[in-house]
Amino acid sequence: MRQHVNPLSKNFDEIQRIPSLNEMFYENKLNLHLDIGCAAGEFLFDLALVNTNWNYLGIEIRERLVKTAKLKVQEREIKNLYFLYGNANNILNNDQSKFIVKHVKSISFNFPDPWFKKRHYKRRVIQPEFINTLSDLLQKGAIVFIKTDVEDLFDYMDSTISNNFHFKTIDKKDFNYSESFNPNKVQTNREKYVIDNQLDIFEKIYIKN
Ligand SMILES: C[S@@+](CC[C@H](N)C(=O)[O-])C[C@H]1O[C@@H](n2cnc3c(N)ncnc32)[C@H](O)[C@@H]1O
Repeated sequence: MRQHVNPLSKNFDEIQRIPSLNEMFYENKLNLHLDIGCAAGEFLFDLALVNTNWNYLGIEIRERLVKTAKLKVQEREIKNLYFLYGNANNILNNDQSKFIVKHVKSISFNFPDPWFKKRHYKRRVIQPEFINTLSDLLQKGAIVFIKTDVEDLFDYMDSTISNNFHFKTIDKKDFNYSESFNPNKVQTNREKYVIDNQLDIFEKIYIKN
């Protein structure tokens, strides 16, 4: 069963040390993709094992999932996959990760927790300040992907990103997936569930100018 974690809880104020790219990956010069809210990381394992010319970094707020994912990486000796535990907002706002974000080629927000009640909107992972941080740190040409089955959340995420004039929408039809972090269009766990249940998927791609 999925458990919601309150990202604004004091437990997440302190973040763990963020290793350098050298410590995280065997080959630190590869293109780097960041997946925010990666849960147990199955999507990233599927990607990392096939696309060995990319490095993949997952951030997840549920500690147990990150511990298990890290053990799996060690056991399978996967060199292009790393997981960080914590609230993505705090991690990416921290000085330690500035250097890493500069090297990020793309970021995905796949089916983030919706937090429906208005008083819980602040718990949503995409916040205007967070998007400003990303727009300050990401290199020109970096790509941001959002995907959700909740239309209201999609509208919120889309308007928050679009309100930052550094991000421009790319039409999905014009996007060259073969050169992206996900050339074979691997689906996330939530995406598989949504497709099996014939629910709608709302998605958009942005480029940093
Ligand atoms: C609905 S799940 C989707 C998981 C996966 N991306 C997928 O598509 O199957 C959302 C995940 O985001 C995580 N999450 C929510 N807010 C977060 C935050 N602020 N920082 C890091 N992870 C977060 C949740 O713990 C949960 O594992």
